[in-house]
Amino acid sequence: MKVINMSKSVKPVKLQEAKAEVLSLLKVLSDKVDLERKLGVNYLQLDPVIKDSLSSEENVITQPSTQESVCNNFDFYNEEKSVELNKSEKIEELGKLEEQVKKCIKCELCHARSNVVFGAGDPDAELMFVGEAPGYYEDQQGEPFVGKAGQLLTRIIESIGLKRSDVYIANILKCRPPDNRNPNANEIVLCSPHLIRQIEIIRPMIICALGTFAAQTLLDTTESIGNLRGRFFEYQSTKLLATYHPAYLLRNPGDKKKVWTDIKKVRDFLKENASLTRRSITNV
Ligand code: URA
Ligand code: URA
Repeated sequence: MKVINMSKSVKPVKLQEAKAEVLSLLKVLSDKVDLERKLGVNYLQLDPVIKDSLSSEENVITQPSTQESVCNNFDFYNEEKSVELNKSEKIEELGKLEEQVKKCIKCELCHARSNVVFGAGDPDAELMFVGEAPGYYEDQQGEPFVGKAGQLLTRIIESIGLKRSDVYIANILKCRPPDNRNPNANEIVLCSPHLIRQIEIIRPMIICALGTFAAQTLLDTTESIGNLRGRFFEYQSTKLLATYHPAYLLRNPGDKKKVWTDIKKVRDFLKENASLTRRSITNV
């Protein structure tokens, strides 16, 4: 007689896999809806196939009335975020994420890229810098901030007694926009989940947002960098301070003093809050 293999051990594993897949799809969707809303999108146009199958005259999905309504639907996501990883787990998670991002073809920037610029530095960093997008040299080398602006960022980091390898550096966009044009809303929406996950894994004590795009995207605001810079904000439960972008400083060296003022606030915050288990800042 033929025995059909319906052993109990097979089914739960498959169900678990399916559940994990559904949860990860929901997480992507929730990130996307969140970001669309941040970028001022008030409704999503339905695919005609779905629209035709609905009897209702309403052909748009209206946005949820409150932030909470989305968060409540995605509690599993918050649970996941509350897990603090140790250094080797962070390395592993970042490695997995990097493999995914290297294969990303969600927007058209994938066609012209030479390299995905995932991010670099200490996975256990207390300080994380977030820039805008790779430029020519970053695209060539697959490393963030290696061009002229990057050399200035290195000097800014060293000015507070740290080395580049002590911090983590990433961008809002992982692929270079052609001719270094500004990132567009679609690219930011599609790419930001990668950065959000990097921040969740690394869990820095403070994020330093460099320039308009990083500051406005992470703080969900259209306020100017001139108004945002030098003030402490919270991103999720991480401190965030924005300052001018080093590329802007190259064009406007008169504003270097303001960045020095801002970066000293970051240094002082780290000095006051650096945990014993992580690297502490030397006297500068
Ligand atoms: N400018 C950025 O915003 N990021 C880089 O990686 C390089 C230049
Ligand atoms: N504009 C930007 O995009 N960044 C700055 O830092 C300043 C002006």
